[in-house]
Amino acid sequence: MMSQEQNDLITRVGPGTGAGAVLRRYWQPAALSEELMTARPVVPVTLLGEKLVLFRDNKGDLGLIGRHCPHRGADLCYGRREDNGLRCPFHGWHFDRDGQCVEQPGEPEGSQMHKNIRTVSYPVVERNGIVFAYMGPGDPPAFPALDCFAAPDSHVFAFKGLWECNWLQAMEVGIDPAHASFLHRFLQDEDPSEGYGKQFRDKAANTDMPMTQLLREYPRPEIRVEETDYGMRLIALRHMEDGRSHVRVTNQIFPEAICIPMSNEMTITQWHVPVDDETCYWYSMFTSFGKPVDKTVMREQRLKEHHLPDYAPIKNKRNNYGYNPDEQESLTYTGMGLDINVHDQWAVESMGRIQDRTDEHLGRSDVGIIKYRRRLINAIKGLQQGDATALPMQGAAEVIEAIRGPISIDAIGATEAWESVWKEGDTARRAACTWNAAI
Ligand code: FES
Ligand SMILES: [Fe+2]
Repeated sequence: MMSQEQNDLITRVGPGTGAGAVLRRYWQPAALSEELMTARPVVPVTLLGEKLVLFRDNKGDLGLIGRHCPHRGADLCYGRREDNGLRCPFHGWHFDRDGQCVEQPGEPEGSQMHKNIRTVSYPVVERNGIVFAYMGPGDPPAFPALDCFAAPDSHVFAFKGLWECNWLQAMEVGIDPAHASFLHRFLQDEDPSEGYGKQFRDKAANTDMPMTQLLREYPRPEIRVEETDYGMRLIALRHMEDGRSHVRVTNQIFPEAICIPMSNEMTITQWHVPVDDETCYWYSMFTSFGKPVDKTVMREQRLKEHHLPDYAPIKNKRNNYGYNPDEQESLTYTGMGLDINVHDQWAVESMGRIQDRTDEHLGRSDVGIIKYRRRLINAIKGLQQGDATALPMQGAAEVIEAIRGPISIDAIGATEAWESVWKEGDTARRAACTWNAAI
């Protein structure tokens, strides 16, 4: 259990907060590229509690600037997109991509006042379907060469969804390997060949057993956590009666991403990005080591579950997540349908907007969460004393760019060989990959 003060320290993200300072040292997903593929590419973005507007200028370059006009606060999301910037419709003040005011057409002829007017602006770059922003001090860090960034655009599909809770509890469900045996339990197994684009619907590694059956029959994983240069590797071992073990390797990528296997062919790299203290987006990059991703199918699957333009899930607390007690008896553990995203959403939203960690009881299976929080608190305390050395993936670009993978895989092999079986599975998958997935 922790104090209220500690819970605030690790959850709050606005300017000047502890966790907010750590998150600001990393590139943050700000929007999907597809959100800007419109006739007027201007979208509101609220990130880490800051209200911003993201736009593409006439030359096609991206800008991310403060949402409210520095004159008298009108909303620049309604700005006129002209002259490679945004012009406030209220009095015509014009801002370039760097947030500099370059013209004030209503001020007296020859006025130089605009030179002293600037709104906040942050660097933005686009990677495989996501626009990332850097909101921290100094130069942004390099991007690690994670699979989702190393793969060509054809092999990565990006999507997002809104959750009505704090980012940390959202992320923590991703470093909790035990929950999959319960929250995502299916009481009947469907044909794995119909599971394209869905998590836990493939066969378990190189067997004929559906993943759903394995998770259901072996609910007490042995969980091992290793510290790595990008964050943590979690290994969940499910020892089976026949002398074999299922090994599931997942990762925490500091500070707020996870990387997990989705199927034998695809992994998911997922950020839990704070909109503000009480709302977050998950941003996922689905990366294929096999065939190019069928983006049309994957997008249609997810659009059936989400409203645009805010990517809010259609099942949510206002309709009880579609909860059906009959279904809970016969088909799923939650009674909330087959989409496992809804299960996770219910789990993390039902805790309350910010989980009260002064009243929780962590068990052995929460080891990933315990270790992660310790690392986050160390990073926060370090930064408060001006020391960034406890933060992974900061500093020299060569070092960051050498970080690859991470390995995210399900594998099955003889229990005594579990330490090699997942590495061999990953090596074989990378060797057969059409893009350069070597690590
Ligand atoms: S409020 Fe924007 S120009 Fe006046
Ligand atoms: Fe989950």
